[in-house]
Amino acid sequence: MQPCISIMTKEKIIIAVDGYSSTGKSSFAKAIASRLGYTYVDSGALYRTITLFALEQGWIQDRQIDESALKAALPAVEIGFDRAGGNRVYLNGVDVSAKIRSLEVSEWVSPLSALHFVREHVDKMLKDWGKEKGIVMDGRDIGTVVFPQAELKIFMTARPEVRAQRRHRELLRKGDKSTYKDVLENIRKRDFLDQNRPNAPLRQAPDALLLDNSDITPQQQMQWLEHIIAERWA
Ligand code: DC
Repeated sequence: MQPCISIMTKEKIIIAVDGYSSTGKSSFAKAIASRLGYTYVDSGALYRTITLFALEQGWIQDRQIDESALKAALPAVEIGFDRAGGNRVYLNGVDVSAKIRSLEVSEWVSPLSALHFVREHVDKMLKDWGKEKGIVMDGRDIGTVVFPQAELKIFMTARPEVRAQRRHRELLRKGDKSTYKDVLENIRKRDFLDQNRPNAPLRQAPDALLLDNSDITPQQQMQWLEHIIAERWA
């Protein structure tokens, strides 16, 4: 898609999109990147790829992570990211874009992403990519830790019941049989874990704009952003 003139900025900026799980961060961040002709980076995909690597190596066994093995191997792990194209992710040259969305990876990515050395490794990669500017990155700590200097920070939230309803509908479409109650419980648990981990907990940066999308459509969300960009940068 061609960049949309009405929300083009004169200079390339960094846009950080953080927030609670199932608030539509990645869809919104992707849509912004496409409208601005920017690069979209899904920071969660890096944590998921490292989790997949640890699982494939057999370093997650009996509910334990072999932290020392992972720490020693991490510098040599090659994680490739097709940032300009379809956001495909490669682990040591192999396309793992689908595998990183598996239930097993989803279950282990939270404890793994809480490890200090894992966060340090991912932060370095993300910061290197941000040097180019013209980037929209979504995650949990982009505006607080990775790019505290980002020119535009958005913090997304929605009522847990609304998020659970959206996520439940999505799962049903994919043939998953989870109940609404299970999904709501999982969302509440992830909110708690994300907010209470000692390393880079989920927080709204003081200069981030709060976007509660409980009662608005994706189109209204984009209009909200267009106004902000027009006011600040046009
Ligand atoms: O966005 P996601 O659900 O794919 O993220 C996967 C996990 O990675 C999630 O449990 C939180 C963690 N994460 C993080 O700690 N920091 C980020 N910047 C992005 C994701």
